[in-house]
Amino acid sequence: MAETQFDLIVIGAGPGGYVAAIRAAQLGMKTAIIDKQYLGGTCLNVGCIPSKALLDSTHKLHDTEHKLAEHGITTGDVKVDLAKMLSRKDAVVKKMVGGVTFLMKKNKIEYFPGAARIAAPGKIEVKSAQGTATIAAKNLLIATGSEPASLPSLPFDGKRIISSTEALTLPQIPKRMLVIGAGAIGLELGSVWNRLGSEVVVLEFMDRILPGMDREMTTLTQRILEKQGLQFHLNTKADSAKVTGNKVQVSRSSGNEKGSEEADIVLVAVGRRPFTADLGLAQAGVEMDARGFIRVNPHTYATTAQGIYAIGDVIGGLMLAHKAEEEGVACVELLAGKAGHVNYRACPNVVYTHPELAQVGMTEEDAKKERGEVKIGKFNFMANGRAVAMGETDGLIKIIGDAKTDRLLGVHVLGPYASDLIAEAVVAIEFASSCEDLARSFHGHPTLPEVMKEAALAVDKRAIHA
Ligand code: FAD
Ligand code: NAI
Repeated sequence: MAETQFDLIVIGAGPGGYVAAIRAAQLGMKTAIIDKQYLGGTCLNVGCIPSKALLDSTHKLHDTEHKLAEHGITTGDVKVDLAKMLSRKDAVVKKMVGGVTFLMKKNKIEYFPGAARIAAPGKIEVKSAQGTATIAAKNLLIATGSEPASLPSLPFDGKRIISSTEALTLPQIPKRMLVIGAGAIGLELGSVWNRLGSEVVVLEFMDRILPGMDREMTTLTQRILEKQGLQFHLNTKADSAKVTGNKVQVSRSSGNEKGSEEADIVLVAVGRRPFTADLGLAQAGVEMDARGFIRVNPHTYATTAQGIYAIGDVIGGLMLAHKAEEEGVACVELLAGKAGHVNYRACPNVVYTHPELAQVGMTEEDAKKERGEVKIGKFNFMANGRAVAMGETDGLIKIIGDAKTDRLLGVHVLGPYASDLIAEAVVAIEFASSCEDLARSFHGHPTLPEVMKEAALAVDKRAIHA
C-alpha cells in the first residue's frame, strides 16, 4: 500500500515540535507529528508544567504556615495530603495535554503515536504496539528533545537515586534529600521538597549556584534560599553512592577535603542530554557534535542531510521550552519562504524559586566583557508600595546599560512575579530600547513594574524613591 505523503513530518511533540506543526499547518502544509511517549513532550508531562503545579501548591503551604498570621489570619493545624497534591498536579498535566490533542485536531495535523526512525530519505518508520507504519514527506523536522543526564558514579535506580521525572511523583516526603547540581531543576524541585518538610542539601560542582545567570543576583538568591532552609555545599563533587536499605550514602569531595552525606533520596540534576537514540540519524547523514547534539545551520536549522531540520533541546543552546518554540516557528516559516528569525539575545530565562529569578540579555560579567564600560541601575522591592502591601519585599531589579549609547543590555529580576515582570524587559530588548525608554515609560501605580522604571532611572542615578 502506498504510504501517506506529507509536506512536513515532525518527530517529537514537545513545545518545539507541536508548535512548529501548528505553524506549518497554518502556512498550508500537510503536516504529521510523531511521538513515542506523549503529546506535549517533556515540558507538559515531566517538566515545566508539573514542576510549576507542585511549586504553586507548596508555595501556598509555605504562605499558610508562615505568612497568613501577619495578615491577621489564623489557621488551625495545617496538614498536607501529598497524594491529593500529586493528583492535582497530574490533573493539570492531563488538562494541558488535552489542550494539545485538541490543537492537533483543530489544525488537521495527523498524530502518529510511536517511535520514529528515518528509514530512507523522506521516509519515516513509526513503530507502535499496533505495528509499523511508513509515512513520507518532503521535509522532516527533528524535535526529539532531551533526557536527564546521569552521573556514571551515581547511576539512576529510579527509587533512591532519581532524576527530575521521579522527583515529581515521590509518594512520601523524604526526611533528607540530597540534590546534586544547583541548576534550575535542583533549586526548583529542592524548593518543593524543602517546603514539604524535607531537609534539602545541595551539592554543586562550581563555586556558585545557577552558572550562566548574573553572579550578583545568584548570590542573593542563594542567601534567600538558605534562609528558607536549603543547605549548599559549593565547589563540591559527588563521587559515588551506595544504597543500603532505605538510605543512600554519598561520598563527596571539595578539593582534598572528603566527606559523606546520608539521604533517603538523591536527586541528580546535572543537566540534560540530547535524545537521539534509534532515530537512524547517522545513516541519514545527520551529523552530531561531540556531546551528541544535532549540528544545524544556526539561521535555517538545516542539518547536514538534505530536507532534514532540527530544533529545540536536541540542538543544544539554552534548554528552554520557549526557545524550542521560537526555533520551530522560525524553521517552518523559512520552509514556507517567509522570514523566520530567532533573536537569542531576547530569550528570557526564569528560575521559579520564591522569589523567582528572571533574566534577559547580558549578565554584568558578559556586558563588561563585550562592551567594556557599562552603567548599572538597581532598585529594591523593599521601596515599592505594592511589594510592601503584599509582604513580598525580598529582591531587586538590576538593569545594565551601555555606558556610551544607553542601549539596554540586560535586565535581572529577583522578586515576586519575576517571571511576569521580565516580559516588559524582553520587549524592550527586542525593540533595542535605551534604558531611558524604560525610565520614561508610564508604569501604573501601585504596581510591581514600578521597580523596573525606578531601576531604569537608577541607571542615570535619578531613581525617585531611593
Ligand atoms: P521535548 O519537550 O523533550 O520533547 C521531545 C519529544 O520527542 C518527547 O515527547 C519524546 O517522547 C519525543 N521523542 C524522542 N525521540 C523520539 C522518537 N524517536 N520518535 C518519536 N518521538 C520521539 N523550560 C522552560 O522554558 N521553563 C520551565 O519552567 C521549565 N521547567 C522544566 C522543569 C523540568 C523538571 C524539566 C525536566 C525541564 C524543564 N524545562 C523548562 C525545559 C523544557 O522542558 C525543555 O526545554 C523543552 O521541553 C524542550 O522542548 P523540545 O520540544 O525540544 O523537546
Ligand atoms: P543545569 O545545567 O541547569 O544545572 C546543572 C548543575 O549541575 C550546574 O550548576 C552544574 O555545575 C552542576 N553539576 C554538574 N555536574 C555536577 C557534579 N558531578 N556534581 C555537582 N554538581 C554538578 O541542569 P538542570 O538543573 O539539570 O536542568 C536541565 C535543563 O532543564 C536546563 O538546561 C534548564 O534550563 C532546564 N530547566 C529549565 C527550567 C526553567 O526554565 N525554569 C526549570 C528546570 C529545568
